[in-house]
Amino acid sequence: MEKVKTLVEALPYIREFHGKVMVIKIGGHAMVNEKILESAVRDVILLYFVGIKPIVVHGGGPEISEKMERLGIKPKFVDGLRVTDEETIEVVQMVLDGKINSKIVSLFIKNGGKAVGMSGKDGLLVVAKKKKVKKKIGDSEVELDLGYVGETEIVNPEILKILIDNGFIPVVSPVAVDLNGNIYNMNADTVAGDIAAALKAKKLIILTDVPGILRDVNDPNSVISKISLKELEEMLKKGELSGGMIPKAEAIIKALKGGVERGHIINGSVEHAILLELFTKEGIGTMVYP
Ligand SMILES: Nc1ncnc2c1ncn2[C@@H]1O[C@H](COP(=O)(O)OP(=O)(O)O)[C@@H](O)[C@H]1O
Ligand SMILES: [Mg+2]
Repeated sequence: MEKVKTLVEALPYIREFHGKVMVIKIGGHAMVNEKILESAVRDVILLYFVGIKPIVVHGGGPEISEKMERLGIKPKFVDGLRVTDEETIEVVQMVLDGKINSKIVSLFIKNGGKAVGMSGKDGLLVVAKKKKVKKKIGDSEVELDLGYVGETEIVNPEILKILIDNGFIPVVSPVAVDLNGNIYNMNADTVAGDIAAALKAKKLIILTDVPGILRDVNDPNSVISKISLKELEEMLKKGELSGGMIPKAEAIIKALKGGVERGHIINGSVEHAILLELFTKEGIGTMVYP
């Protein structure tokens, strides 16, 4: 009976979400454990079989650092931002496309999902330009050179439409290209947000390693379960978000302004976090509404 109740509770959601596009970002930290990663993959496959059109975007920061260390290449940071030189961009592609993307696609196949692995380069999905980062030193402003770190110039979602309309689940790595063929390392949250906006997705769901947006970063019990776009913008402005939460908030803000209905930040290290967030009244993480 309990099992049936769960299904019945999910019915209105299933009906609302049927045929809709959802962009799901799987975070670097939520991927360290293979069991958890596989449970996220299974959740996405379940979404697919109830008629949702999922698109997965993955990160991989921690694994890139680990691989660099093993190869004896010291990761360089300027102001906490990773510098991506020629040697690093090679490792970035090895890890993101060669390893992580391929691993996620295999997990989909193993669990019955027709996934297609690709990077932001493929089909010119994400056209990038070199990211300009400015820093104030005293009264003057200097530009930091982060090497092959890109920001989105244009998103061409055609390739994704072709795939999802034909029953495939795209799995996208945050590697992009400019029109001269230079390869760039992108922030995966940003890429997910830009893709969600380009497709006017129903939802952008970001899996990470904290329970959601926390009122107080040091208190895991201070999750904000619902927040408006405006309030989130204020939190950003007031400096209440830091580190990896900043690009997540920015991605959700941009996505909602671009026509995405809801943004979600949830704990990817909780098994079946996606299903709990989408198909139960309470949800488990933070939901952002326009
Ligand atoms: N207000 C906040 N609420 C939650 N997390 C925050 C907040 N401010 C900063 N953070 C940090 O953001 C981190 C998530 O981003 P990140 O480490 O880049 O993970 P991911 O690999 O999922 O992108 C959290 O682990 C936390 O340390
Ligand atoms: Mg991050």
